[in-house]
Amino acid sequence: MTIDNGDAGQRLCRAIRQELESLGRSGVTHWNTEITQLLPLLASPAVAPVEPTRIQAATSENPPRTGPNNTGPKNTGHPSGAQEFEMAKRATKTAAIQMAAPGTVGAATPPKLLDLPLADRVKQLEKLQKCVAGCVKCPELARTRTQTVFGVGNPQAKIMFLGEAPGADEDATGVPFVGKAGQLLDGIIAACKLQREEIYICNILRCRPPGNRLPSPEEAGNCREWLDGQIAIVNPDYIICWGSTAAKNLLGTTEAIGKLRGQLFEYGRAKVCCTYHPSYLLRNPPAKKDVWQDMKWFFGTMGVELK
Ligand code: URA
Repeated sequence: MTIDNGDAGQRLCRAIRQELESLGRSGVTHWNTEITQLLPLLASPAVAPVEPTRIQAATSENPPRTGPNNTGPKNTGHPSGAQEFEMAKRATKTAAIQMAAPGTVGAATPPKLLDLPLADRVKQLEKLQKCVAGCVKCPELARTRTQTVFGVGNPQAKIMFLGEAPGADEDATGVPFVGKAGQLLDGIIAACKLQREEIYICNILRCRPPGNRLPSPEEAGNCREWLDGQIAIVNPDYIICWGSTAAKNLLGTTEAIGKLRGQLFEYGRAKVCCTYHPSYLLRNPPAKKDVWQDMKWFFGTMGVELK
């Protein structure tokens, strides 16, 4: 990832970097750990391709974890969308998804991960969010957005949710997944015995594409450094890609989402699972049972049984 390209957000990042370097040079040693960890994020060279690899689900040699956040599953209330998803759950057959045979995935490069204490994660996310707010790398998106939609959630989340791009509601509020698709996602989160605050939620794009069109490859590429920055700081164990835009862009694959389901991939140290986007479920409700099947399988790989 590189932040040295010349627009307003990047100028801010460059200024932060110069400031950190100069503090480091003038012997501010109590910042040095942070500087050491932050500098590669702000100015690491352009990335070389790495192929994401499939990994096995939990086995006896690869023991399961006790819960998605090391705290075991939690009971939550049922927000909007939960009831709808409960119905889909009841329609789900119990058959396990098979691990698919390896296919072809393209090039994608994970960022260098940062292993920061909570306070530093909060600080770094805030800094990155400021850079994002000033980003004008995609002129059409910068011109038409109300605001950027950075991401929300636990800076120490074990699970990151990755969507496509903000829609009208997200553009209006600055928060990802708050519209109809977000309400359905809330139902899925509740069905998985999680709370929104436990996970970290962001998108491939941080600006709404006009008319909710698909992000162009160029826009996804422009936004990648922000996504990789968030992944580097949050350093999740798991990433769930909601829909093919998330899966294709994160993993650099052209495989259809239907082919990617039921497999775990690696992105850096994160294990990646792909399933249908909640917007697709709104258009195609019978697919909700497939997503529930995916969730049961995915949490099963962590040793968490969903019912
Ligand atoms: N769809 C997405 O992919 N992301 C959002 O934030 C909202 C809808």
